[in-house]
Amino acid sequence: MRTERLFSSLRALVPVFVFPMLILSCGKADSFIGREVIDFDSSWSFSLAEDGIDASAPSFDDSSWRILNLPHDWSIEMDFEEDSPTGTGGGALRGGLGWYRKTFRVPSSWKDHRVCIEFDGVYMNSTVFVNGQQVGNRPNGFVSFSYDITPYISFGKKNTIAVKVDNSLQPNLRWYSGSGIYRNVRLVVTNPSRIAYSGTFVSPQLLSSSEAKVTISTEVEGDSAGLIAKTSILDASGLVLATGEAPASEGKAEAVVSIQSPHLWSIGDPYLYTARTELLSGGKVIDVCDTPFGVRTIRFDDKEGFFLNGEHVVINGVCLHHDLGCLGSAVNTRALERQLEILRGMGCNAVRTSHNPPAPELLDLCDRMGFLVQDEAFDVWRKKKTAYDYSRFFGEWYRKDLEDFVKRDRNHPSVIMWSIGNEVLEQWTDAAADTLSLAEANLILNFGHAANTSDGGTHVNAVLTKTLADIVRGLDTTRPVTAGCNETGTYNHLFQSGALDVIGFNYHNGDIPSVGKNFPDKPFIVSESVSALMTRGYYRMPSDQMFVWPARWDIPFYEPSLSCSSYDNCHVPWGNTHEEELKVLRDNPFVSGQFIWTGFDYIGEPTPYGWPARSSYFGIVDLAGFPKDIYYLYKAEWTDETFIHLFPHWNWEEGQDVDMWCYYGGADEVELFVNGVSQGRSSKTADRLHAEWRVKYVPGKVEAAAYKDGKEIGRQTINTAGNPSQIRLTPDRANLNADGKDLSFVTVEILDKDGNICPWADNLVEFEVNGSAFIAGVDNGSPISMERFKDNKRHAFYGKCLVVLQNDGTVGDISLKATSEGLGSEVVPLASVNL
Ligand code: GAL
Repeated sequence: MRTERLFSSLRALVPVFVFPMLILSCGKADSFIGREVIDFDSSWSFSLAEDGIDASAPSFDDSSWRILNLPHDWSIEMDFEEDSPTGTGGGALRGGLGWYRKTFRVPSSWKDHRVCIEFDGVYMNSTVFVNGQQVGNRPNGFVSFSYDITPYISFGKKNTIAVKVDNSLQPNLRWYSGSGIYRNVRLVVTNPSRIAYSGTFVSPQLLSSSEAKVTISTEVEGDSAGLIAKTSILDASGLVLATGEAPASEGKAEAVVSIQSPHLWSIGDPYLYTARTELLSGGKVIDVCDTPFGVRTIRFDDKEGFFLNGEHVVINGVCLHHDLGCLGSAVNTRALERQLEILRGMGCNAVRTSHNPPAPELLDLCDRMGFLVQDEAFDVWRKKKTAYDYSRFFGEWYRKDLEDFVKRDRNHPSVIMWSIGNEVLEQWTDAAADTLSLAEANLILNFGHAANTSDGGTHVNAVLTKTLADIVRGLDTTRPVTAGCNETGTYNHLFQSGALDVIGFNYHNGDIPSVGKNFPDKPFIVSESVSALMTRGYYRMPSDQMFVWPARWDIPFYEPSLSCSSYDNCHVPWGNTHEEELKVLRDNPFVSGQFIWTGFDYIGEPTPYGWPARSSYFGIVDLAGFPKDIYYLYKAEWTDETFIHLFPHWNWEEGQDVDMWCYYGGADEVELFVNGVSQGRSSKTADRLHAEWRVKYVPGKVEAAAYKDGKEIGRQTINTAGNPSQIRLTPDRANLNADGKDLSFVTVEILDKDGNICPWADNLVEFEVNGSAFIAGVDNGSPISMERFKDNKRHAFYGKCLVVLQNDGTVGDISLKATSEGLGSEVVPLASVNL
């Protein structure tokens, strides 16, 4: 078979690097003839470089450089620095300029082939050289791109690829970017005529419950004369259900096939089909490409909200930035999957990829796990929010970046809407943030624009909105276009353009009831909501006092705790509490749903604080992946599960008033006991979505008993913890796939001698790993910790920390040992296996 022949010749000619080969096409797995997809992540030489160094030439001496595997984020390896040019908004971790180089031998048998290199994302401003010649430059740090490097390659010889990554001009983003080739890279070897990069568009249309019509467009690169594109539809078991073909003579082919009694894709049953497209020349297959897709219908209604497959679904979504906590922005499928699993646990069904194109792996996971996605393109257009952001490149690149983004993502059933921008300053006529610091830029988005910023007539910004929406519609008419707007007035240029299919407000709950009047017939979504602030494990009493921080955008905010309370009593002035938002949605059923800012904490933007805070307080889940208490409010409101979550802990000053709260599901009311003495029953009301009590603290135990129809259905006990005395290690998985990438997230808890979690514990824990794994990162969820993410030790933060193990690609046993002074050691066995 052709594939085998190509690969064996490659192996024979590549003594230095054995490429792990993925048989993929268009980024998706299958088996076929005529296309080889080679994982190109391993063994790159890397160095941070001074400005001016040119490492593009093959002869450049990189022998002293570090060898590493991609995906790689060099910023996450650094120390936090107060004077980092990225500012605390960028996570106080430096950017800089780096070079990656890799030498690879190209077999002479590839001579008649086309060789392309695909980058899923490089932050930022990357320039690729092959054998010293510049192949291309791509400023946008979030888009995926491909270069045809055939003309630059020496066949049968050693070749050198060099990638310059310039993230030196700072700040260029309002949150942490990471730096480097932080997503996957692959080499794709095909015949000269091939299915283009992102070259298939599979568009299903449900005609009735018994039939779906699937239109398959195929773009062909190279000489397409006489070629046929033939597409087969496979069900999830691989059975061919239907086949259609069309001539590709003009570089494009369009075939229509139908699926009888289609199995619909939904949140609860995310069923995927595969469209296998073969390119035929004289009956011979010369390329093949698999495109997973799903059959589902979406409808946004101005009066009733969102419908999936005709059924009403409230979009219970969260916004996510792209970093993965202590792993930085270096993409890892398991880390993304864990995030989605945790979010699913609270009933979340949707993600907004704020504010940029995500890693393709995220969309693959959303397809497979049944999440809805608002796929967002930009945080800025022409007007800058930070000194060196994408606005510098927008004019030259917006069309290409937007087109590539839509073409890459339009086959995903999970993607239900496109956002062309977040809070772009083009909403107004007056807005310009050119002279602002990063912290100010983050704040001015929400404070202080002149009330009426319209200058009448059709403004250039409205024209630009329409231009961008039209680019999207030119490539996909099956999903609505929206934008996250924090100017809710009808004079907002984006609204004035008439080009948005769904009106999206960021915050401004007070304006929601007038949406129907101001935007007649337009469906509506809360594209961004809440922005409440919380530190896991920190409680500021009384719980009924509200902390609205910061008070002003132009005066630095400081409060000595550098913490925010976990009682849902702290939020930014443009936001509100979590409970408030749930009530607004409950009371306005025309709203399609919301995307809460944010699902997980992220690095950077530590509003309301400045240094030494360096990561966000907005998350429902902290940076280490530990749910904050508020997670259970969503579990109560968004799932049908029966549970009790009582908080806070039971270690206070004797005699102190303590506010106990409880989120619960499946019960009518909850009774609180302190050392066995009832403190009364409490329940949710129309106005309050939790039960609560104010009690005097006495050491011992506090208990919550939940009742349904008068019968006790569950009980939770929290004991006063004694002194730290032992460590508990809980891996989220004991067996890791030996692929060199799979991870185990190990929760580390500090316990007293009886096994109670010590809620105030901050003991330093040291880790030692033996066997087939290494430490990929450590964290504890503290937004102010100055400890490195890449280390073998971590202080606990309110009783917990995290160590992330990554298998090293070998099969074998793993042992993790955690040691802390005075607490002894704890060992947990894991294994790296072929799963
Ligand atoms: C919004 C913005 C987000 C984030 C958030 C913090 O205005 O869209 O990116 O900055 O505020 O509250």
